[in-house]
Order: sequence, then structure tokens, then C-alpha cells
Amino acid sequence: MSSSSVSVAADTMSLSKRQSCSPTADFLPLKGTDHVEFYVGNARQAAHFYRAAMGMSLVAYSGPETGQRDRASYVLQQGKVRFVLTTALRSDSPVASHVQRHGDGVRAIALWVDDASSAWRETTRRGARSVAEPFVLEDEHGSVILSSIATYGDTIHTFVQRTAYSGPFLPGFRAIDYDPIARPVGLLHIDHMVGNVGWHEMDRWVDFYASVMGFSLYQHFDDRDISTEYSALMSKVMANGNGYVKFPINEPAEGRRKSQVEEYLDFYGGPGVQHIALATNDILHTVTAMRDQGIEFLHVPHNYYTELQGRVGSIDEPIDKLEELGILVDRDNEGYMLQIFTRPVEDRPTLFFEIIQRKGSRSFGKGNFKALFEAIEREQMARGNL
Ligand code: FE2
Repeated sequence: MSSSSVSVAADTMSLSKRQSCSPTADFLPLKGTDHVEFYVGNARQAAHFYRAAMGMSLVAYSGPETGQRDRASYVLQQGKVRFVLTTALRSDSPVASHVQRHGDGVRAIALWVDDASSAWRETTRRGARSVAEPFVLEDEHGSVILSSIATYGDTIHTFVQRTAYSGPFLPGFRAIDYDPIARPVGLLHIDHMVGNVGWHEMDRWVDFYASVMGFSLYQHFDDRDISTEYSALMSKVMANGNGYVKFPINEPAEGRRKSQVEEYLDFYGGPGVQHIALATNDILHTVTAMRDQGIEFLHVPHNYYTELQGRVGSIDEPIDKLEELGILVDRDNEGYMLQIFTRPVEDRPTLFFEIIQRKGSRSFGKGNFKALFEAIEREQMARGNL
């Protein structure tokens, strides 16, 4: 694929250019992703899926028993990946209206900071819409300062300052010491989280992450990279100063039929988080365990694997094992990476997960896009949405 090698060179150039720029002080220093909060229709049942199938452990809970009157929240953890599943207890709750509009989905991408007041001040000063001014929560374990700003759709970023806190999650949550249901699969941390935005809105949100949050362009892909016979999309990856937080932003592009991003926008009811990529250092083990525990992955056709060796060269993993599990491989000039995508994890064709193992490569799997999107389109076709 000649277009692929040209773009890899361009990516490398933009990376080295970014690194050589004289770094002005990062006005939004991020220590990583603190947690991801999903608003769901039934958190108790959703939590069972994330524990038994995705291998996360229930570590904290808040609800009526802890004095929370309008919602219940389950905090799940595996490695540094922390998800919070929140459900409404009453129909007039904003959690309920979010679920009515979007189905189950990501409400908050919470970012870990040392100063949530400064994070809010610096981002709102640069044009972010405030969702919550800095406020303090306290309990016997100390205090946490939180603040929030809006991003695409109904999604928000919450800044979490927990320097003076030693409790299990946030004040008001009760620790759960042992989870007999969790079956961990080796997930380590969030590699990236992808947002789908509307037609011609990608650059607007790229500008938001650049000017409001101080991120810079890490990689980009256009519809020549990401298109099949039927549909296309465009994507730009934005990364924060230390590279811990990466947000690819997708928009639909014109094709003969409906793009997967359009299908998402139709069913989610607007922009939102499309997928969360979770890192492992043993993808063969992780995917085997997830399959055994009932997670469904996209099917990859046999011819992908007959061409694989020629495309990526020598790799540590046996190709027949990769084919058996449906794992994709891509290489750039720094190394290679292995990745796989789940089917959407709910009935609306919206959110799904990616499992990724990086072996030197910082790419997002451009060489896999065509095979991957053809697999997605077969599923879109089966749903009558292509
Ligand atoms: Fe991804």
C-alpha cells in the first residue's frame, strides 16, 4: 500500500516537528484518564457484564444505601482502567433523559489533574462551556475537587483532583473489598478513546482540543486511507502534552452508502464516544479469555491472514493463532501493534471496545482499516443500515 507508507512518513514528520517545537508550559497538565462514566439503563445488570465478561472488579458503590437518592453508581476496575456505571432511580433524573436520548453510553471522560480549579479556569477562559464550576466533595477519607466542561454532543470532561483523598473512589462511595464475579483478562490502561462527530465537524473539534485543551495533532487519516467500496470516514488523533491522553475524532465522509459513523450518529442521537481502546501486554491471552467469557468480536476474513505476513513481515505471534482469535496486525517504522474490535456491546449499534497491544508502534492500525471496515459493513448490512 503506497498511500500507507507515504502517510507514515508524514506522521513521523509531524511527530518530530511537534517534539522540536519549543514547549510552552502546558496549561492543562493531565496525569491520565481518571475514569470513564457511563449512563446506563440498568447499572446492576450492566456491571455484571463488565465483571463476568470484560473481567473488571467491582471496587466501590454508591446508591440509596449510601445516601444517594436519585442514582446508583458501580465503580469497576482492572489495571488502571476504571469505569463507573451510573443509572437513574427516578424518571425525572438527568441520567434518565441521557439514556432515553442515547441508550447506554459514555457521559463523562474524567481526567486526572493536580489542580481541578486551574483546569476549569484555563479551559473556560479559552472558550470551553462550563458544566460544573469547581466544587469540593468530602468524607472521612479526605476531599476531592471536581469541575466539568462540555465536549462533543452531550459528552463532558470532568477534572478530578484527588491529591487530598485516600478513599476507594470519590467521597460518598463505599468500598467493595472482594468481587467473586470478576474474571480479570489482563487489561492494563486506556490507550485511546474515539469520538464520532457530525458531518464536517471534525476540524471544529480538533480546534477545540487544540485551542481549549492544549492538545496537538498526533496523526491524521483521510477518506483515501479509510474507505471501502461503500463508505468512508475521516479521522484526526489529538494528544495532550505528555501523550498520556489520546482522542481520535471521526467524521463521516461521502461514500456510496451510509458510513459507520453515520449509523452511529443515527442511533446514538448525535455525537458521542464510539470506542474505547484498552491496552494489554498479552493480547492472545486477553482475547482468548474474553471470548471464553462471552465477548463477541468482529469476524475477520481468511484472506486477511493470507496477506498478513507479506504486509507486516516477521512477528512474534503465530499467524494461525491470530486468525483463530481474529486479531489484526499493523506495522509502522517504529514497530508493530495488534488489535481487535468487539461488536457493539449493546443493542444500539453504538459503543464498542478495542483491545490493543503495542510492540513499538504508535499507530492506530491504518493498514487494517479496509479489512476492519468491510467487517463492520457486513454487520451494518445485517442490521439493514447500509
Ligand atoms: Fe481505536
